[in-house]
Amino acid sequence: MSEGKLAGRAAIVTGGAQGIGAGCARRLAADGAQVLIVDTDGDLAQATAKGITESGGMVAVLVGDISKQETAKGMVEEAVSRYGRLDILVQNAFGVGGSAFGGGALEVEPEGWQGGIDVLVSALYLGAKYAVPAMEASGVAEGFDTAPYGQIGMHTGEPPKTEVGRIVNMSSVHGLLQAAGMLVYEAGKSAVIGMTRQMAIDFGPLGITVNAIAPGHIITEKLDAMWREFGNEKGHRLFELQYPVRRLGRPEDIANAVAFLCSSEASFINGVTLPVDGGLSIQLQENIVMEVKDYIQKNPDIRTVFDRFEAMKERS
Ligand SMILES: NC(=O)c1ccc[n+]([C@@H]2O[C@H](COP(=O)([O-])OP(=O)(O)OC[C@H]3O[C@@H](n4cnc5c(N)ncnc54)[C@H](O)[C@@H]3O)[C@@H](O)[C@H]2O)c1
Repeated sequence: MSEGKLAGRAAIVTGGAQGIGAGCARRLAADGAQVLIVDTDGDLAQATAKGITESGGMVAVLVGDISKQETAKGMVEEAVSRYGRLDILVQNAFGVGGSAFGGGALEVEPEGWQGGIDVLVSALYLGAKYAVPAMEASGVAEGFDTAPYGQIGMHTGEPPKTEVGRIVNMSSVHGLLQAAGMLVYEAGKSAVIGMTRQMAIDFGPLGITVNAIAPGHIITEKLDAMWREFGNEKGHRLFELQYPVRRLGRPEDIANAVAFLCSSEASFINGVTLPVDGGLSIQLQENIVMEVKDYIQKNPDIRTVFDRFEAMKERS
C-alpha cells in the first residue's frame, strides 16, 4: 500500500483534467489516494494522469459528461471495479458557456438555464446518488477508524459510523455573493451550498461528511490564458488589491483545502462551505471600492479578464 494520509482510499475527481480539478487530483494522489479523473476532455485528462503517474501517484481516466446519469453511474462502477472501493467524491467539473447561459432572467434562454443547472446542480445530486451506496458498501478503509468514541463524553448506544466517506462539492464566492447578469452560475453555485448542507444532514449518520468549497479567483491554465489575451498587469494588480492577502489563488490552494476535508482530521466538519478566497468575501464592498478608487483613477488603461465579456459581445 502507498504512503500518505489518504493511502488506501479511492477517490473520484470530476473535471480533473485541468484547473482546480487537476490540482485536486494531483494532491489526493500525492497523499496516497487512488484517483479516477472524470472529464469530457479525454486528451487533457490523460496528460494530467500521465504527470500524476510519473510522480508516483495512482490514477485512471474516465471520459464522460457528469450531467448524464450514465456517467454518474459509470464513474462509480469504474472506481469500484478498478480500486475495489470508493471513499471520496470531489464534484468539481463545470464548463458550459455561451450566450444562452449568460445574463439575467430576461436574457437567459430556457435551454441555457437547463444546460447550466444540469452541470452545476443536477450532476452533483447524481454523483452523490451513486457514490454514497458505493461508499457504504466499501466500509471504512484500513487504518481510518480512528474516532476516540467511548473514551470521553456520556454516550449511550452503538458508536456512530465514521470515516465511511467524504464528498466535497465545488461552489464559488459566486455562491456566497451574487454578481449582476449571471443568473445561472450564481443560482447554481448558491444551490450547491444548500445541497451540501442537505447531504451533510442526510449522509452524516452513514459516516459520510459532505462539505463545499467556495474558491475566489483561481488562476487556472484557462484563466491565465484569458488574462494574457484580455487583461494587463495593471488590471491584474487591481484584482490583487481587492484580496486582503494581495494575491489571487492557485489550484493548489483549493487542493490543500480539499485534501484536508477528505482527511481523518476533518471528520467532525460537516455541511460547511469553506471560502478559500484570501478573505475576498468577508469585506464590505463600499470600503473596497473606496480603497481601489485612487488606483483606478491613476491607471485609466486598466484591462482585466472581465474585458472578455465586451470582446465576446463585439464578436457575436
Ligand atoms: N477558477 C476559478 O477562479 C473558480 C472560482 C470559483 C469556483 N470555481 C469552480 O471550480 C470548478 C473548477 O473550475 P476551473 O476554473 O478549474 O475550471 P476549468 O475550466 O479549468 O476545468 C474544468 C474541467 O471540467 C471539465 N468539464 C466541464 N464540463 C464537464 C462535464 N459536463 N462533465 C465532465 N467534465 C466536464 C472540463 O473539460 C475541464 O477539464 C468549477 O466548479 C468552477 O465553477 C472556479
